[in-house]
Amino acid sequence: MKTLVIGNGAREHAITWKLQQSDLVSELLVAPGNAGTAQIAENVPIAATDIDGLLDYVKNTSVEFTVVGPEGPLANGIVDRFQAAGLLVFGPTQSAARIESSKVFSKDLMLAEGVPTGQARTFSSYEDAKGYIETCPLPTVIKADGLAAGKGVIVAETRQDALTALKEIMDDRQFGEAGDSVLIEEYLQGQEVSVFAFVDGDYVSPMAAACDYKRVGDGNVGPNTGGMGSFSPPRQDHWNCEVEAQVRREIMEPVAKAMVRLGCPYSGVLYLGIMLTQDGLKVIEFNCRLGDPETQVVLPRLRTDLAQIMLATAKGELRGLDIIWSDDAYVGVVMASGGYPDSYKTGHAIKGLDGLEPGVTIFQAGTRLSSGGEVVTDGGRVLTATAAGKSLADARRKVYDNLHNIHFQDSFYRTDIAACI
Ligand code: AMP
Ligand code: GLY
Repeated sequence: MKTLVIGNGAREHAITWKLQQSDLVSELLVAPGNAGTAQIAENVPIAATDIDGLLDYVKNTSVEFTVVGPEGPLANGIVDRFQAAGLLVFGPTQSAARIESSKVFSKDLMLAEGVPTGQARTFSSYEDAKGYIETCPLPTVIKADGLAAGKGVIVAETRQDALTALKEIMDDRQFGEAGDSVLIEEYLQGQEVSVFAFVDGDYVSPMAAACDYKRVGDGNVGPNTGGMGSFSPPRQDHWNCEVEAQVRREIMEPVAKAMVRLGCPYSGVLYLGIMLTQDGLKVIEFNCRLGDPETQVVLPRLRTDLAQIMLATAKGELRGLDIIWSDDAYVGVVMASGGYPDSYKTGHAIKGLDGLEPGVTIFQAGTRLSSGGEVVTDGGRVLTATAAGKSLADARRKVYDNLHNIHFQDSFYRTDIAACI
């Protein structure tokens, strides 16, 4: 099967790395990819957002199967366009992707299905939202309804911060029409866990769970980022078979069934962001794709052929497929460009990518090959270093031992990933 992966992050590098191990995949392409994917597949210079360009490319070069990594093209209907052209594609349709692209849709769905989640009010009037902030409990969480590149959620400690966030979203229109409506949500406290499932209509197959570190600095300080590190599995005092069964029974299955009933059956990966609070687990959000950097520590634990799973999902044949996960522990640490998540420089040579210990894998993100063939930085999050271990402590030691040998100008990483274990 000639297979195309769409995206250019470390998540897509990990997906490509896993697909490359499959006997079902004869030729592997990545659009647009990065310097890491170029080593194991062929990069195609078409942006993940260019749906017309991708469709033309797939038709003209007889790509047989396409896997979509990021939410942007899914929310813009890439799957609908490919399916209308008779092409096989992994991912949800535009109406199913609303589970991520509209926080109002997703909150309404949770409330209608009795899925445990934080209380929230929805506003499409700026004045009404301002009025509510005058009296709401603090801290509070302001969320733009639509996609905002991970920046549309603000946890506000004070009324002034909440009003500023609201103004930026609804009045200054910082995220465009994503700010037509906002959700003002109860602040939830606890341990966050990311859980994924392969979903095919009303059938769900849960994946291994992971924890993600959103804040830029050690000790969870500083602004939110795309994610600075991850580990899998979560600690056993947070996550065990009973919680897993509860998540499947109370969240995954009712949501999958509801999507079928609503006329937008889900196909692809469903991402559940869960907060384990003192009052039990609550859903923070759904996403319509794999998480980054969680994928980099979850996919290495998959023992079943990823191409077989994704193909079965795309064909509506996932039910009955036995999917096996290993018990190994993985820790992933993101190395980023100085200044990220604000502005940063690119084009710095990356040294030390070779000669790593067995069990250590580097998934590249913001990288490209320079004209001289050198791997150089090309983004904020540059790479995720991952290591496998018999325990999280073992994996953590290994990943940091190896990360110390990787260098580029102004690089930084968090030193406390999986330190809690
Ligand atoms: P989201 O874009 O919905 O994933 O939100 C980004 C991050 O903001 C989440 O991963 C949480 O860390 C935090 N967050 C979102 N909603 C809440 C909430 N209701 N209470 C506390 N933190 C939240
Ligand atoms: N790691 C968070 C996300 O992928 O949305």
